[in-house]
Amino acid sequence: MEMAFISRAFILLFLYTFVCNLSCITPLFSSSTDEYSDVQCLKSVKDSLDDPFNHLTWTFEHLTAGSFCNFVGVECWHDQEFKILNLSLSNMALKGKFPQGLEHCKSLQFLDLSGNHLYGTIPLEISQNLPNLISLNLANNSFSGEIPSTLANCSYLNMLEIDHNQLTGQIPPQLGQLGRIRVFNVSNNMLSGPVPNFPVPEESYANNKGLCGEPLKPCKGKGGSFKFDFSFESGFVAGFVFSAVSFIISFVSCVCFGHI
Ligand SMILES: *[C@@H]1O[C@H](CO)[C@@H](O)[C@H](O)[C@H]1NC(C)=O
Ligand SMILES: *[C@@H]1O[C@H](CO)[C@@H](O)[C@H](O)[C@H]1NC(C)=O
Ligand SMILES: *[C@@H]1O[C@H](CO)[C@@H](O)[C@H](O)[C@H]1NC(C)=O
Ligand SMILES: *[C@@H]1O[C@H](CO)[C@@H](O)[C@H](O)[C@H]1NC(C)=O
Repeated sequence: MEMAFISRAFILLFLYTFVCNLSCITPLFSSSTDEYSDVQCLKSVKDSLDDPFNHLTWTFEHLTAGSFCNFVGVECWHDQEFKILNLSLSNMALKGKFPQGLEHCKSLQFLDLSGNHLYGTIPLEISQNLPNLISLNLANNSFSGEIPSTLANCSYLNMLEIDHNQLTGQIPPQLGQLGRIRVFNVSNNMLSGPVPNFPVPEESYANNKGLCGEPLKPCKGKGGSFKFDFSFESGFVAGFVFSAVSFIISFVSCVCFGHI
């Protein structure tokens, strides 16, 4: 009886230790892979960009835990959390495409690549790779092509600055779903069509090819077709009234003057 109790207690103790070990080891393991992933991120960003003035003095030999958090332009979450929160590489004359390696910086919330010589398109996968972005600044570069509609899935975005590029096409209507936008600047591109309903000033849209809608001039497209429908309908009614009246007149004139 007593032996059975003791062995049961041992089994419980064993199970408890086993479960605890699992739950204690797992977070340790995942946080170290996060850190590895953020180092990968910086490595591949550095590799993918041409850096003529050697602004990116990042070296990856003899890295100690979290030492990359002190790299130029890098800010981690806090002293014990070696994950990159903020990457700020503005005005460094960096040249290349949008760094694909940023997909390894999964915890990134603030990304500033403004004032460089970046070109090519803003990648479609941006929202999948950087889903937690609060601020994205790609202003003053040479990005071309269309603004990806997938940016609508970066639902925490407060600031989206993509002014002074060579972006074409329309502003994707899906971006209107971004309910937290406070700063939005697409000025100095080659965009056309309706603008989203954001609380931003006219200057955010300045110097494009043909943007329209509040706070700019109303769009011709929809207003125009509505007017067209309206005039078509009223024309139809007027035509009906006119033919009805002329029918009555001719009927009356036949009846009244027919026998003269
Ligand atoms: C991000 O880092 C840059 C450069 O260190 C700094 O100027 C900026 O204020 C930081 N942004 C946030 C939101 O912490
Ligand atoms: C972009 O360049 C313009 C003109 O050179 C400058 O006024 C503006 O501050 C720059 N914006 C950013 C985000 O670097
Ligand atoms: C947002 O993500 C969902 C799920 O991945 C996808 O089905 C949808 O098409 C995306 N929306 C945009 C605008 O890309
Ligand atoms: C957008 O950019 C233009 C030109 O770079 C600037 O004049 C304007 O103040 C900016 N607007 C916002 C809302 O940042």
